[in-house]
Amino acid sequence: MPRLDARVKTDLVGEAQCTGKSPDCSKKVIIKELSLSSALIQGLSECGEYVRIMQKLPDGQKVEIEGEVVRTENDIAGLELYHSDMATMEILWDNIRGEVSCQNVCPYCGAEKPIGTTLCHICNTPLDFDDDNYLKKHFRHTFLDRVKSRIDKLDTGHLEKVIKVINKEILKGKGHPAEDEFIGTSPAMLDVFAMIRKVAPSDVNVLVLGESGTGKELTAKAIHERSPRKDKPFVAINSAAIPEGLLEAELFGYEKGAFTGAHAQRKGKFEQADGGTVLLDEIGDMPTGLQATLLRFLEDRIVERIGAKGGKKVDIRIITATNCNLAEMVRQGRFRNDLYYRLDGFTINLPPLRTRGEDVVILAHYVLKSIARNDNSPAKRFSPAAIDIIKSYDWPGNIRELINKVRRGQLMADGTDIEPADMGLQDVIAEAPPGTMKHEVANIQRKAVEKALQDHRFIITRAAKMLGISRPSLYALMKKHNIAKPNLGAEVMS
Ligand SMILES: Nc1ncnc2c1ncn2[C@@H]1O[C@H](COP(=O)(O)OP(=O)(O)OP(=O)(O)O)[C@@H](O)[C@H]1O
Ligand SMILES: [Mg+2]
Repeated sequence: MPRLDARVKTDLVGEAQCTGKSPDCSKKVIIKELSLSSALIQGLSECGEYVRIMQKLPDGQKVEIEGEVVRTENDIAGLELYHSDMATMEILWDNIRGEVSCQNVCPYCGAEKPIGTTLCHICNTPLDFDDDNYLKKHFRHTFLDRVKSRIDKLDTGHLEKVIKVINKEILKGKGHPAEDEFIGTSPAMLDVFAMIRKVAPSDVNVLVLGESGTGKELTAKAIHERSPRKDKPFVAINSAAIPEGLLEAELFGYEKGAFTGAHAQRKGKFEQADGGTVLLDEIGDMPTGLQATLLRFLEDRIVERIGAKGGKKVDIRIITATNCNLAEMVRQGRFRNDLYYRLDGFTINLPPLRTRGEDVVILAHYVLKSIARNDNSPAKRFSPAAIDIIKSYDWPGNIRELINKVRRGQLMADGTDIEPADMGLQDVIAEAPPGTMKHEVANIQRKAVEKALQDHRFIITRAAKMLGISRPSLYALMKKHNIAKPNLGAEVMS
């Protein structure tokens, strides 16, 4: 490891003051050697660990340098200098630089220095001491070196945190805004981020799969924002939210008089998004008739408004999302095979929140802060019991549910602490954290119960029989795992 700075012989007389144990001590000292970050000083004995040295330099300028004694040998103390301001550094450098250049060895690592080189071929340190920008270059080099030596010790989780600190604290939002808000440090989410970055620059169709509330739309937006289309529109359309009869008009638009109620001509979503990206959300709910029309459009990219003669070519990237098992729907003949293969250029699977480890707590804090910021109110705090529940609850509605519960907590908590009851989670028993045997067993149990109920369309007697347990036991397990009959789902979620 090369030394940080080149040290030069000086033999300067200065005046030292202790700033630590015996602040009154003041004495004459000799600075034997000096660099930008350290000094060897004679005559410091009996001074404390922290000293300040007033020094008149050979060029007549006065500097005040502070530091800590890190070792002492035969009345010579090694001092590590605190970072002084740049002006002091420049004065120091002016007085050191003349002495540094002379030998043909690198003063940092001792390697033989080929004459005339501006960079050491071994330690890569800049050696062009006469350059007026030398100090700047040198600091950049040494700081980068210090960062690099630490980076090797970091895992991907740490690196993700480093990037967040850089974006939020240092660059203050000058980076990608979407990335700032897309929280994830678990390995599965880091994989998702890597896939987003990989696929974004291309025009490949992307299929985003994941349970409800896992961030499918956020993923689609993140892809768009990292693509060359980022300055063009991002248009999302939810196939499940629009009545079947109106969906085609929404997507393709219509001409005046094309059908009853078409009082004026209207552009469809595909035309509105020209040059940009369209997210076809809940694609699993797209009616079969429209699936054929969509397939045709994907082949020629020509939008033909309903009632129009002829069409217009548009340039859009299609991202689709669904919480259905599309491959299974294809097998069952409920989704067109050819359309599925067209849309599935690249699949991103979003993991459920309950499998994202520590992310759930990080997300909860993040959501709490942003809710408070939006409401212009001080953020409350999660109590330790609330954190336990946040970690052990299954979050069937994923991040969307987390947001709702945290919002409720911030609103309902009387004092500064948010308790489980404030989030409506008082009935959840804190379970073992993910990864433990207890958690894994509970997971298997929940899956078995869910499967039995689904296989028997929530007919409790039959599902209980299949599981080999009594009806009351099944009801108890449904309560424990927060499973409700589908038409009661909304009640259980809130
Ligand atoms: N990793 C994340 N970091 C921060 N916020 C997130 C994250 N994932 C999701 N969200 C937020 O959670 C909410 C739900 O996300 P989104 O709408 O993208 O999910 P979805 O999978 O499309 O949901 P649905 O299936 O209900 O349509 C949004 O407010 C989104 O901003
Ligand atoms: Mg969605």
